[in-house]
Amino acid sequence: MPSFRKNEHVSWPRVTDVNSYLVNELIGVGLNRREARWLVEEYMADGDHGAIAALRAGAQRRLDGEPIQYIIGHWPFRSLDLDVDPRVLIPRPESEELVGVALSELADSGGSAPLILDLGCGSGAIGLSMAQELNARGLRASVICVDESLDALAVAKHNASKHELTGVSFVHSSWFDALDTSLRGRVDVIVTNPPYIGVEQFATLDAVLTYEPLGALVAPDASGVAGFSDLEEIIQGASPWLVANGLLICEHGDMHRQAVLTTARDAGMRDVRDLDDMFGNPRFLVARR
Ligand SMILES: C[S@@+](CC[C@H](N)C(=O)[O-])C[C@H]1O[C@@H](n2cnc3c(N)ncnc32)[C@H](O)[C@@H]1O
Repeated sequence: MPSFRKNEHVSWPRVTDVNSYLVNELIGVGLNRREARWLVEEYMADGDHGAIAALRAGAQRRLDGEPIQYIIGHWPFRSLDLDVDPRVLIPRPESEELVGVALSELADSGGSAPLILDLGCGSGAIGLSMAQELNARGLRASVICVDESLDALAVAKHNASKHELTGVSFVHSSWFDALDTSLRGRVDVIVTNPPYIGVEQFATLDAVLTYEPLGALVAPDASGVAGFSDLEEIIQGASPWLVANGLLICEHGDMHRQAVLTTARDAGMRDVRDLDDMFGNPRFLVARR
């Protein structure tokens, strides 16, 4: 019976050498180094016999224009690793900042069991991060994730299970329309990253966005402002759902600062401010009931 023994005279490439070779191969066909490394780390992690063929197929998808997040199927958002696919928007770093703003505003408000509404939850990025981080601080947060897309809600539910998050529920609704009326006057924080790209602007943006759901990105114009209709509807509708002093925090487009401030003040909100993001662009409306 022959035994399978490693031939000591052959110099076997180490796994890291194979991976370096593959990274260089992907750079050679046109990927940048960072994405080449991500793909190699992802596909070669298990190292089964089909891994290299799958890696090359993944690289081809990237070269054809598909976002790397959909190819590898997951993406980090704050402390969560979220599964993402073309049913949901790929979460952005600005929205990680949005969560940071919401958490620091909430810390100033006090309360040990906040009720949070994530309007347009997509993958669940914002609401699930808030649940996870507040629970880690010992608070008993309840988060309601809302979306009009059943596909998005399925992904968000999957991500909540993946991270074993408690205190999270899901509602299929167009903004406030199908929310249980018993929530009126009880919500501590409404946090949202709604669609805010105008139709004309969308046509000028990177073609990679065409892989994401259109309904997650583009909003009709309102009050003469491009891409403003969802923001306007949310800001005008928020107050009755909030507790006294409750927070509304909205991510918005570069051109929306004046419109969000005016709409929030006209809706009777107070302590109305707008903050820049890490790139110095106008991005986050903060207002209180
Ligand atoms: C910009 S994406 C944000 C997704 C996620 N919150 C994030 O930051 O990654 C907007 C989300 O709003 C949802 N949406 C669009 N119109 C809506 C509406 N009328 N009511 C509820 N959700 C809506 C989309 O399906 C999408 O998931």
